[in-house]
Amino acid sequence: MHIFEPYTVKNLRLKNRIVMPPMCLFIASDALASDRHLVHYSSRAVGGTALIIMEASGVMPNGRITDNCLGIWDDSQIEGLQRIVDSCHAEGALMAIQLNHAGRKCEAEGEKLNYTISPSPIASDESYRTSREMTYEDMSEVKQAFCHAAQRADAAGFDAIEIHGAHGYLISSFLSPISNKRTDEYGGSLANRARFLLELLQAVRDVWPQNKALLLRLSASDYLPGGTNLAETVEVVKMAKKYVDLFHISSGGIAEAEFDVYPGYQIPFAETIRKECHVPVIAVGLINNPDMVEEILANGRADLVALGRELLRQPYWVAMTASALDQPYEYVEMYKRAFDRKV
Ligand SMILES: Cc1cc2nc3c(=O)[nH]c(=O)nc-3n(C[C@H](O)[C@H](O)[C@H](O)COP(=O)(O)O)c2cc1C
Repeated sequence: MHIFEPYTVKNLRLKNRIVMPPMCLFIASDALASDRHLVHYSSRAVGGTALIIMEASGVMPNGRITDNCLGIWDDSQIEGLQRIVDSCHAEGALMAIQLNHAGRKCEAEGEKLNYTISPSPIASDESYRTSREMTYEDMSEVKQAFCHAAQRADAAGFDAIEIHGAHGYLISSFLSPISNKRTDEYGGSLANRARFLLELLQAVRDVWPQNKALLLRLSASDYLPGGTNLAETVEVVKMAKKYVDLFHISSGGIAEAEFDVYPGYQIPFAETIRKECHVPVIAVGLINNPDMVEEILANGRADLVALGRELLRQPYWVAMTASALDQPYEYVEMYKRAFDRKV
């Protein structure tokens, strides 16, 4: 079966095609990783997930989504992350971390957090603060913060980083005409709206080890009139692909929008980007069973499949699926007798 076929991209040698997408746990205190994070991620590694992308981690204090999100803006945050990386590596998973600046969707509070930043001073909705319009100095500070975060991710032993360019956070708010009303070279045309992302990717690529994979998550559509859409995202991917090894295709998040959510609703976005841009992609979004995963992979609609809430429900999804379908599989030694029908 395609699910259990290995896949290689750059330094990542995935033992199967299942990825855990970034999912905030909102349990961090002082932005530090704890034993609860360790248990959570290690369980998914034990269960056979090939690549785990750790949750959105703030590259700056006001880059966190909430006060309970992880941070990667200070060297003191490396140790807790490294413990998780080491533990998951020992169980055979590859490890990535999602680097994020929340921009106008930062809900964190406290000292130095009494303001948020975004391309234009427009609140995401009435529940958020109105951000300060970013100056060139702010932009260069954020790019530097992503670079330093990437260096910390390397020090913690991560195999890959994922830049969060989706869901209405800072990078995605530059890409969308709904949140970006700038009249300088960072707003207006698509090339201008993509400039911040491309400069950031170039800067990060220069410090992130050349042999390690860099992932980019994008929202393929805002689902709103006047917002970004698939055609624009295809162009963004074409501009970004020289810096990026693997694209992770999601959607939405810039502002409240009505759209149909059904099993596999985002797969056509990933499929189109894979085919039109000739790049490897991860498909995600309400993919809940092995038949769906197999269909996506066998029909060449994506290279890898991410299971989010399904892996929250069932950390051992990969091992359980291999056992249920009686597929050849290397179970972790300690649980072999539970899964392998032949021993
Ligand atoms: C509790 C939770 C937290 C999430 N946190 C993040 C995050 O940190 N970064 C991100 O890009 N997406 C985040 N997402 C979105 C997931 O990565 C994924 O795209 C989404 O859940 C759809 O996949 P699923 O239907 O398989 O769950 C989160 C989703 C959930 C349910």
